[in-house]
Amino acid sequence: MSNPILDIKDLRVRFKTEDGFVPTVNGVTFHVNEGETLAIVGESGSGKSVTSLAVMGILPPNGEVYDGEMTFRERDLLKISKKEYRALRGNEISMIFQEPMTALNPVFTIGYQLRETLILHQQLTKEAAHKKGIEMLELVGIPDAEKVMSRFPHQLSGGMRQRVMIAMALSCNPKLLIADEPTTALDVTIQAQILTLMKNLKEKSNTSILIITHDLGVVAEVADRVIVMYAGEVVEEAPVFELFENPKHPYTHGLMASIPKIHDVVENLYSIEGTVPNPTNMPKGCKFHPRCPLADKDCMTIHPELEYINSTHAKRCIKV
Ligand SMILES: Nc1ncnc2c1ncn2[C@@H]1O[C@H](COP(=O)(O)OP(=O)(O)OP(=O)(O)O)[C@@H](O)[C@H]1O
Ligand SMILES: [Mg+2]
Repeated sequence: MSNPILDIKDLRVRFKTEDGFVPTVNGVTFHVNEGETLAIVGESGSGKSVTSLAVMGILPPNGEVYDGEMTFRERDLLKISKKEYRALRGNEISMIFQEPMTALNPVFTIGYQLRETLILHQQLTKEAAHKKGIEMLELVGIPDAEKVMSRFPHQLSGGMRQRVMIAMALSCNPKLLIADEPTTALDVTIQAQILTLMKNLKEKSNTSILIITHDLGVVAEVADRVIVMYAGEVVEEAPVFELFENPKHPYTHGLMASIPKIHDVVENLYSIEGTVPNPTNMPKGCKFHPRCPLADKDCMTIHPELEYINSTHAKRCIKV
């Protein structure tokens, strides 16, 4: 087995709000192996982004990790200094966001931003950084890379901006790339190109990838393993093939049923009834029970543990 590069144990995150502390990530455990792509899936509000922001050490000011362990390449992320964290973020972990404009500065050219990153993190001279910047743009499939270096972000299409952001994220040769919904803002063709790009990068540079998405199509395309999150908890974990072949948790079944098939008419799209519960008002017992077709009396009172059914497949449900 390969080594985990990132190891998260029983992570708990809460936010300070007008109603007091609201727990939003409630004991999440997972790891990412070297060279592996782990996908986190789950509906809106299940805590996917908050988990990734906690790993990056960039939770909003009212958020805090209040329990658990986070280890990255044998360093304790909850103990390192702010300075060490910053260095880590620039060099070993990088993140791509759903909306590229949040990571690109509108007033500087693409070339300037790429050069600055490379000069800062790889100690290159300006000339070397320029050359490397062009190489990075070519690597992410940008035609006319030399010309694009002198463009401003708003002069590029959404797909191009996303590629530039990926080039920036990769320009420090990260060991771990965190991608939060990297393709949802893009049209289908560009989406496919970005996913192919991520797969190639993994093969070429053995980068570990943590990809967050609510799109199981994306998962099937790129992931080695998957964790399914619901209401701030992991409800299932499995290698990607096994998850699709043999999903256990009723919530995972629901997600599977909501993948549009080519022949479906849009009106017939299945979706799981109800919504993710509000963190201020979590159901007792299993958090999924109010929406679950299998739920019975026990499910209203028993909060299931995450239980391994074999060495790699786990589920949090007493009914399956
Ligand atoms: N700054 C904040 N203050 C209070 N609550 C927050 C804050 N940021 C996030 N939350 C809450 O944490 C919960 C999890 O949010 P998160 O953004 O992780 O969901 P998500 O799974 O990424 O959803 P999506 O698919 O919509 O991106 C939500 O209920 C959200 O309202
Ligand atoms: Mg999110």
